[in-house]
Amino acid sequence: MSRLSVMTYVFGAVFFVVSCSFAVFYGYKVLTHDLPIEKKQHEKYDYHFVLVPEELDNEYWRLVEQGAQAAATDYRVMLEYAGPKQANIDDHLKTIEMSAASKVDGILTQGLSDEQFTPLINRVVTSGIPVITVDTDAANSKRLAYIGTDNYYSGFLAGKALIQDTKGKANVAIITGNFYANHQQQRVKGFQDAVKGEEDIHIIDIVESEISRVRAAEKAYQIIKKHPEVNAFFGTSALDGIGIAQVVDKYVKPGKIYIVGFDNLPETLEYMRRGTINATVVQEPYEMGYRAVKMMIDLIKGKPVNPIIHTDTRIIRVTDLPVSYLNRMEESN
Ligand code: BGC
Repeated sequence: MSRLSVMTYVFGAVFFVVSCSFAVFYGYKVLTHDLPIEKKQHEKYDYHFVLVPEELDNEYWRLVEQGAQAAATDYRVMLEYAGPKQANIDDHLKTIEMSAASKVDGILTQGLSDEQFTPLINRVVTSGIPVITVDTDAANSKRLAYIGTDNYYSGFLAGKALIQDTKGKANVAIITGNFYANHQQQRVKGFQDAVKGEEDIHIIDIVESEISRVRAAEKAYQIIKKHPEVNAFFGTSALDGIGIAQVVDKYVKPGKIYIVGFDNLPETLEYMRRGTINATVVQEPYEMGYRAVKMMIDLIKGKPVNPIIHTDTRIIRVTDLPVSYLNRMEESN
């Protein structure tokens, strides 16, 4: 064998051994460690849930999301928060449909209206994907459970607060989120029932805000112009009281018109401190989100779950706000 062919042979053998080692090494890595990122991420979670709110950037829904995310972290859930940018029933339904099509393990959403939500929820549940309603129930649907405020009772509380604070004499205008929404209807009904025995309380008008602060302000302005006898407002969703208060502050005078609102978002508390909003109905959005995720896991595991869980709801007035909070706000103004 010539020297050249010996060298060629040795070089070929070394090359063969090195290539085999690389092949074995990388083959082993692929099989054991370096799986695609997506797969790896998925393995960190036991479940994949979607929370579909009425409006993505609504501060109230961000609190529901925070609670749900906290539970998701505690219980190894991948939680997606997806839905309409601005309240829109078609986008809302489409997001639920798309989540179901992507075969998530569970859907948390509102049961906003019987007409549109009940048939969709029924289809999703029948296809094997559990649905829990949060904040607003579709009580006649096949949803597995509801967690949220007792919306009728919360409206009733608002009515009782108004009677007490106005000594049973008021001409009231109601600004409600949406006429079609189950929970808004229940809040209005609860309020109407609470005041119906009061002969000096009159409901002058009921209008919609489309859960928008700007629209609530526009409607409040129109009502004040059209019905100068109105001296009280009830705002039935989180931004309604704030919109009404903006108008009263600017065009009337803080405290001249009685306002009972909904929820305790920072702006609402600020208007309470200034004496523009007199009372508000507090709900527990963080708790709704947290417990909804936990309930979904229990349902999937076949554990017993109460089909209706009402979270706490109560009225607060400025006197219920902590003095430390009031002082802090005073200083920063
Ligand atoms: C309601 C939510 C609604 C929000 C709108 C809250 O009071 O519970 O359902 O989306 O107001 O701002």
